[in-house]
Amino acid sequence: MLLKLLFRSFSSTSKPFKCSAVKAMGRKFTVGGNWKMNGDKATYDGLIANLTSNCLDKEVDVVIGAPACYLEYVRTKLPSTIGVAAQNCFYKKSGAFTGEISPEMILDNKCDWVIIGHSERRQIFGETDQMIAEKVNYALSVGLKVIFCIGETLEEREAGKTHEVCFRQMQAAADKVKNWDNVVVAYEPVWAIGTGKVATPEQAQDVHAALRTWAKDKLSPEIAEGLRIIYGGSVTADNAPSLSKQPDIDGFLVGGASLKPEFVKIINCKSD
Ligand code: PGA
Repeated sequence: MLLKLLFRSFSSTSKPFKCSAVKAMGRKFTVGGNWKMNGDKATYDGLIANLTSNCLDKEVDVVIGAPACYLEYVRTKLPSTIGVAAQNCFYKKSGAFTGEISPEMILDNKCDWVIIGHSERRQIFGETDQMIAEKVNYALSVGLKVIFCIGETLEEREAGKTHEVCFRQMQAAADKVKNWDNVVVAYEPVWAIGTGKVATPEQAQDVHAALRTWAKDKLSPEIAEGLRIIYGGSVTADNAPSLSKQPDIDGFLVGGASLKPEFVKIINCKSD
């Protein structure tokens, strides 16, 4: 109900975004909305109406991460210019894996993205670096695009291990993945997810730049230059503009705020 009211007031009072042509430069800015295990069809109707009734910056790749059982519903309702992602998948085509979905099933629902390695998968469901690397590699091999999440816990940050942890998570994927064209890396410090404690632009840029340097050394200079590294963790319409100005921040993965009208402002933060 609250969501519905928010939408009503938003649609009636917000200034529509001017659809000016924005020049594309380098890596395409990418904004993912991770709905997690929230909402129902009525909620999604409101969220989709917010996305379709406002003008979105055409130079931004927008991807919505929907719960598996709603992939088809959301895919059917969103325009094809907006991607739809599953929030997880397994690394096999089919078989006795109760409760899992395969990348092939995601594709069969006309969705072409998947979020893999989210910290909630790692922490609550015990997914390891190796398992996540298998998933990333398999999903890519059947043609999905992957938002690959990495990031350190508060304890690891306080122990000065941020870079080490992120590099370890990247290396596990790099041991399997050879073609990085369809990978978007989401750096999401665990302490910033759902806590309202966003990384400062400087903190985020520091890790993004370190990841790009790592990619240059361990993958190749070309891969590093083209690799989209997006930031996630308490992104809002207020903090998105300053974060987006950092040279190595190529977009966002947004949880809580993707369930609010302000998600449009986050998408448009480079040009609003
Ligand atoms: P948050 O979540 O924006 O609510 O912090 C981000 C995420 O989990 O991807």
